[in-house]
Amino acid sequence: MESKKITVPIIMKMKEQREKIAALTAYDYLMALFLDEAGIDIILVGDSGAMVFSGYETTIPITMDEMIYHTRAASRGVKRALLVSDMPFLSFQIGSEDAMRNAGRFIKEGGAEAVKMEGGEAIAETVHRVVNAGIPVMGHLGLTPQSINRFGGYKVQARTEQEVNRLVSDALALEQAGAFSIVLEKVPAAAAKMVTEAVKIPTIGIGAGADCDGQILVTHDMLGLFEKFRPKFVRVYAELGREIREASARYTEDVKLGKFPSVEESY
Ligand code: KIV
Repeated sequence: MESKKITVPIIMKMKEQREKIAALTAYDYLMALFLDEAGIDIILVGDSGAMVFSGYETTIPITMDEMIYHTRAASRGVKRALLVSDMPFLSFQIGSEDAMRNAGRFIKEGGAEAVKMEGGEAIAETVHRVVNAGIPVMGHLGLTPQSINRFGGYKVQARTEQEVNRLVSDALALEQAGAFSIVLEKVPAAAAKMVTEAVKIPTIGIGAGADCDGQILVTHDMLGLFEKFRPKFVRVYAELGREIREASARYTEDVKLGKFPSVEESY
């Protein structure tokens, strides 16, 4: 594990050196602190926070101001990891000026070191302009949740030969535009492998098989905190939702029975 500060060039070098990149999401100070201390390479302030933090049905409603708030909170917990912020729906799709202004806010007000944008060739010009303004950009292809209304559900993407070719050409367009890495979400492992071999920048998979250069999961899924649904690609490393419920039930019982606080817990 690198103990020095992880930067964009270090993430790009990890692919060259065949070192896998470990990434997770955080939306607040404490979670970012725990992940950073655990040695995670990239902490993403994902717009998944709309669902697992704020309880919305999709990622679409979260605003720039909310994402800046989450980024600022997470940034206070991060010393080593690369902190990347997700550009929310409509913060970059309208035009590259808007995108540059909003990406700049993440760096200037939020303390992020890079931003992530969903989309391929269609946003390549925007990615190019943001990168030229000095802001590193992570791409995101495959199942891009901000387009959920077009997809009609959280389905596996890139299943036909034509769709796989499109995935590869989108990845090449992002690389050409200057993106430093690409998230590949919910695509067949074989398609993710093709993209990973086609580009020099690292791919970071979520439901995209083992051949990506790195992996990312939503922390609330991985820790068993978000229980509404569990995609097949999530490995659950802890059942914190169950632990929180059990601990809170024990506390409630102790209070009701007058068992808390004890003499030792009183002044
Ligand atoms: O918003 C998010 O957490 C993401 C990851 C799933 C990659 O985009």
